[in-house]
Amino acid sequence: MTKKEAKKEIARLTALVQYHNKLYHQYARPEISDYEFDQLLAKLTQLENQFPEFGLEGSPTQLVGETLSKNFQTVYHQYPMLSLSNTYSEAEVRQFVQRIQKLLQGEPIEFFCELKFDGVAISLLYKKGALEGVVTRGDGVKGDDITRNAEQVKTIPRIVKAKDVPPEFEARGEAFMPRNKFEQLNQVRIAQGEEPLANPRNAAAGTLKTLRPNSGPKRSLDCYLYAFRSEAIDLSTHEAGIQLLEKWGFNISPTYKKCTTLEEILEYIDYWETEKKSLPVAIDGVVIKVNSINQQNRLGFTAKSPRWAIAYKYKPENVATILEKVAYQVGRTGVVTPVAHLKPTPLAGTTVKRASLHNAAEIERLGLHLGDTVFIEKGGDIIPKVTGVDTAKRKPDSKPVKFITHCPACSTTLVRQYEKALYYCPNTKACRPQTQAMLEHFVHRKAMDINAIGKKTIALLVEKGLIRTPADLYSLRYEDIYSLDGFKDLSTKNVLRGIEQSKQRPFEHVLFALGIRHVGEVAAEKIAQHCQDIDSLAKASSEELMVIPEVGEEIAQSITTYFQEPKNLQLIESLKKVGLRLSIAKTEAVPTRHPLAGKSLVISGTFQNFEREDLKSLIKSKGGKILSSVSNKLDYLVAGHKPGPAKLAKAQALGVQIINEETIIQMIGL
Ligand code: IVH
Repeated sequence: MTKKEAKKEIARLTALVQYHNKLYHQYARPEISDYEFDQLLAKLTQLENQFPEFGLEGSPTQLVGETLSKNFQTVYHQYPMLSLSNTYSEAEVRQFVQRIQKLLQGEPIEFFCELKFDGVAISLLYKKGALEGVVTRGDGVKGDDITRNAEQVKTIPRIVKAKDVPPEFEARGEAFMPRNKFEQLNQVRIAQGEEPLANPRNAAAGTLKTLRPNSGPKRSLDCYLYAFRSEAIDLSTHEAGIQLLEKWGFNISPTYKKCTTLEEILEYIDYWETEKKSLPVAIDGVVIKVNSINQQNRLGFTAKSPRWAIAYKYKPENVATILEKVAYQVGRTGVVTPVAHLKPTPLAGTTVKRASLHNAAEIERLGLHLGDTVFIEKGGDIIPKVTGVDTAKRKPDSKPVKFITHCPACSTTLVRQYEKALYYCPNTKACRPQTQAMLEHFVHRKAMDINAIGKKTIALLVEKGLIRTPADLYSLRYEDIYSLDGFKDLSTKNVLRGIEQSKQRPFEHVLFALGIRHVGEVAAEKIAQHCQDIDSLAKASSEELMVIPEVGEEIAQSITTYFQEPKNLQLIESLKKVGLRLSIAKTEAVPTRHPLAGKSLVISGTFQNFEREDLKSLIKSKGGKILSSVSNKLDYLVAGHKPGPAKLAKAQALGVQIINEETIIQMIGL
């Protein structure tokens, strides 16, 4: 590879990894398997090592985990939550063992093998035996404070009572949704007309980060602990920490095993590869740790991971089958999604007939031809994916799959949104699947909640030409509904009552019901609170909208585009006329008490958006008190760029919450 090619390839891989990172962490909507992701990252790492001059600043190879959520307080970890170096090859496990043997110069070594649970890493801090806080891994240095959602995890003890509990300790582990709970959750979602979640890990992440702890199933998560640390206790082995946690009532998976030889480690790996099906939790590999803490300390860390541990990951189950055709589905917002129709084949316990292809770019990336032998994979996800093609088996006369140019439902020419690699049908007025999906969304429980109208009724109403837009629902007459197949007096009245009652739905639900692209339930709520009414929202610029928590560039642009469409403005006028609530009810608008009222804060470091004095005045104007030194009475340390290390250390030691600039901006409500 020439230098020029390497530079280009590094830039391409960096962007690609960043894109997939965002899908995984921010949207919980991964498009590629962990295996494919790890391969991309490994390729990028290798190129960066070979051509260090081209490594980009902020490269994903140098980062751990996710970006932090705007909705939670940021908490610094007492010591970093690193990741593990991982491998898919037994040869590399062998090298790992040999390297350690060499570094420890023939000392006897014990390895502690554990399963690699596929959930969300959490850190639990206990002070005087009481649970003080639960934090996600975040970017490794600081995470989201999810303490208030931790009650979703049924095996996190609030209080630990035992004679030998130290004044302070930290336990780390993995929160996960057991597979049976995950299946139940998806059944409920499907029954309620919602998309099923792709895998238990996304379900766990969603539950832990929910802003509506009371809306989902209760205590549906569990947690296995795999690390213990306390300044007050000197332990000689990792195992001793695990045993302490177990004794104090924490949940420890009984699947760990101590090994002294490579053969035993490989046996453990093989055993769980077949037996993983019998576990209540999804795993994606095993973790091999050096048991002795003294040896761990001598082996130390690289920038990202400990030298004394490695994760061996199982390759996702994979099978080859024939691509028979590609079908296309049109969604609510007109986006056309390709679906691979396959020769039915068994894979990981089910018969697979269809697989996801995501979008046009994915078809191009795979270079698919009809009749191809394709590899499909189920990497913990319920919907299998096409991950590759066996080009050697391709028939010479086979034709490449070409994305359709016209809407399969209404024949309108499709438009390609280049950046997004998506095709969509622009006929928002008369494309049947779009109309129906948009109306289904409008009546949904979380939107206008007209539960007497289901998918079937909508299909009938649209087919008969009785409704085309949500506003048409409000002019339906008794005889219109009564005339539909299967409707009697009572069911007709029920529908009419449901429609009438929906006029009382609060503004945020109406806003969500409009189905503006990317505006989900939570964003709708925040936007409604901020803008107060639809007219102010319609007038807001992207910049103004981006001040609202939850609203990023994508949502802001989508909103401004929505309000530029005359047909949308017309719809809103009609909805106003029929009496829907398009502003926040007066009582809802009055803020009860500002979140900063009565709180004490110390400011340290410099800030991007404010001079220090201005920030202080702003905080004071919201009822906050500014102090100059950190004490245990302090509520928050606001840490800007380069905060005072003594202040930071003291705040950490006293367990004072440390928040960054972004969080204080939100708290002030700018
Ligand atoms: S030890 C310093 N043990 O794997 C290393 N991690 O890349 C600390 N994980 O998201 C991690 N099961 O949450 C360790 N038995 C186990 C694990 C485990 C799952 C996760 C961990 C983190 C990732 C590490």
